[in-house]
Amino acid sequence: RSVHSALTRGSSQISRRGYGSEAVPERKVAILGAAGGIGQPLSLLMKLNPLVSNLALYDLAATPGVAADVSHINTRSEVAGYQGEEELGKALEGSDVVIIPAGVPRKPGMTRDDLFNINAGIVKNLCTAIAKYCPNALVNMISNPVNSTVPIAAEVFKKAGTYNEKRLFGVTTLDVVRAKTFYAGKAKVPVAEVIVPVVGGHAGITILPLFSQATPNGNLTEEYIKALTKRTQDGGTEVVEAKAGKGSATLSMAYAGAIFADACLKGLNGVPDVVECSFVQSSVTELPFFASKVRLGKNGVEEVLGLGPLSDFEKQGLESLKPELQSSIEKGIKFANQS
Ligand code: NAD
Ligand code: LMR
Repeated sequence: RSVHSALTRGSSQISRRGYGSEAVPERKVAILGAAGGIGQPLSLLMKLNPLVSNLALYDLAATPGVAADVSHINTRSEVAGYQGEEELGKALEGSDVVIIPAGVPRKPGMTRDDLFNINAGIVKNLCTAIAKYCPNALVNMISNPVNSTVPIAAEVFKKAGTYNEKRLFGVTTLDVVRAKTFYAGKAKVPVAEVIVPVVGGHAGITILPLFSQATPNGNLTEEYIKALTKRTQDGGTEVVEAKAGKGSATLSMAYAGAIFADACLKGLNGVPDVVECSFVQSSVTELPFFASKVRLGKNGVEEVLGLGPLSDFEKQGLESLKPELQSSIEKGIKFANQS
């Protein structure tokens, strides 16, 4: 259903559409970091999603205002704001999907790993609360460095005895969104039709778009493919530099986060063949976590799909990214276990 149809239809009519005689299930989504640059537009987009029945907006401050604002939109979900750590439990209780864009963003000259010292602790605390209040929720990790924050989350959940690898996702959808946009521009094909997997991780060379598998086939030269690969890998930095100290991608990230959360909800609701790329526990390579296409279902990850045929350039890229990705994963695991 389109955002437009959700907006123009009365909220009472929404719950039965698209599911025959069955009502659309009740689904609670919590956003942690909801008052931030990503959090606010993401709250808006999740409010427009007719699969959501309850939207919990949590941050350290300012969520009452964001929640009051978003709650006036005439769509299905009930919205509540939660502010400060003492309200985190209430925000999380009963959540089906928890989206985490909490933490500091980059400034020009920084790598995502430079955010580790602050964001690792934030993610650890939030995941400790998730293990306590909604251990069965699907967790969509946006906070950077994703290559480390996802392993941190896994370790926190393991310690709490709640870890299920099917329910933990690093959100890499923005890499896919960028790869599609940049490819369509160069290949001169309609952007809405483009499909291109992006695998590996979510930082610099660990982001590996598989343009050899892109459709529609744009017959691009190797030179173009190399340039598109570099632009996709540097997409985040392009935005950080353009924002010149005022943060990183927020609007395109909110769009990407909303697409990924929608896919998780569809999977939970039993919609077949929901496939998105995501950074998950994986045996696709020798690395314990890896982004690739994932089929989503009623339990979260239904199937981690393989890489498919790679070009020589992509094979090289895959080998080059492994040491960096491995060390970011290990850094996250070490942090979670020593602190
Ligand atoms: P921001 O500073 O605008 O917002 C972050 C929000 O997190 C703030 O409102 C802050 O109050 C909140 N916060 C901080 N500590 C918290 C805690 N303990 N509990 C709850 N909320 C807390 O930053 P932003 O631009 O929204 O970016 C957020 C994160 O997302 C950054 O780490 C950034 O690098 C990352 N990011 C990831 C991707 C991706 O593709 N995965 C894309 C863009 C940004
Ligand atoms: C992005 O890809 O835009 C995010 O990871 C934010 C960043 O720091 O680049």
